[in-house]
Amino acid sequence: MQTLQTTSLRVSQNQLFILDQQALPQQKIWLPADSVEALVDHIHALRVRGAPLIGLSASLLLALLAENGAGRDELSDALRTLRASRPTAVNLMNNLDRMKQALTQEDFAPALVAEAVRLVAEDKQLCERIACAGSALVKPQSRLLTHCNTGGLATAGVGTALGVIARAHEAGKVVNVWVDETRPLLQGGRLTAWELGELGIPYQLITDSMAASLMAQGQVDAVWVGADRIAANGDVANKIGTYSLAVLAKYHGIPFYVAAPHTTLDRYCADGNAIPIEQRAASEVTGVAGSFGAVQWAAQDAKVYNPAFDVTPAALISGWVLDTGVVTSQAVKAGVFRPTA
Ligand code: MRU
Repeated sequence: MQTLQTTSLRVSQNQLFILDQQALPQQKIWLPADSVEALVDHIHALRVRGAPLIGLSASLLLALLAENGAGRDELSDALRTLRASRPTAVNLMNNLDRMKQALTQEDFAPALVAEAVRLVAEDKQLCERIACAGSALVKPQSRLLTHCNTGGLATAGVGTALGVIARAHEAGKVVNVWVDETRPLLQGGRLTAWELGELGIPYQLITDSMAASLMAQGQVDAVWVGADRIAANGDVANKIGTYSLAVLAKYHGIPFYVAAPHTTLDRYCADGNAIPIEQRAASEVTGVAGSFGAVQWAAQDAKVYNPAFDVTPAALISGWVLDTGVVTSQAVKAGVFRPTA
């Protein structure tokens, strides 16, 4: 396969490497992902993370395995295992459906390579379209709030919600970004703050519980988040804590936007109740671990509830900014939100 490089994925000499998103921003470490087991381990550990990136990494690995001689049965097994690696972000399933189609071709190895390369190139373009459409909705002098990480680290391009913020900043419309640290795994504190710094965008890091008082003080003009899966009625699964932000935004009369590519849409999920929500390890809540080491503050036997995502009902969302255009809340209320359109 040709050499390929995004912010957090690299293909060189027929091998896939991932930028370890658990080590960032303290360390920039590229790790090999040269087997299904290795990539699944990276995905479980969130060394590779973000809805679009998970799907792209799985597709690239399949293509490389094919190019390195794996047979059809082995690739089918690999596809099934990768598909089951994380349950909520539907981009993984949508990307792998395309890879599965390529695998049916007689000359499947070049077909898989071409499809994986196409998926990466497409994702880059989808990000650009989302960023452009979303930036048009950002008002001058905006103070925006974002949650989790939706930037170049999580996609092949400029990002989704963070891409919107980046383009709006280039247009001179962003005066500050409030970055939710995003407990328990701190994607905001570790990754979004770092990306905004690299882009030269003014930001302030806050703990998740500070958003309410900032909104009450009139210091937030709009909330921008990404998505892991959008149901057919517009309900959105995204990083845990997104729903509370949407409730807060509604109460304070602040626009709440979701930015995502069409690969995040799931026409088979009628509404948010049908979206599978990943449950994660207790240790993520009883303490914290990272490149700096591990700290546990809760009792050894503390009982924990740790869903990785929550569902925001469509009624709380002001607009869905997709690569295919902006879907307004009026359109959703009128029942014209057609994810497949
Ligand atoms: O558990 P993560 O870090 O993979 O969760 C990521 C999110 O919730 C993002 O908001 C979403 O995947 C969109 S990334 C463009």
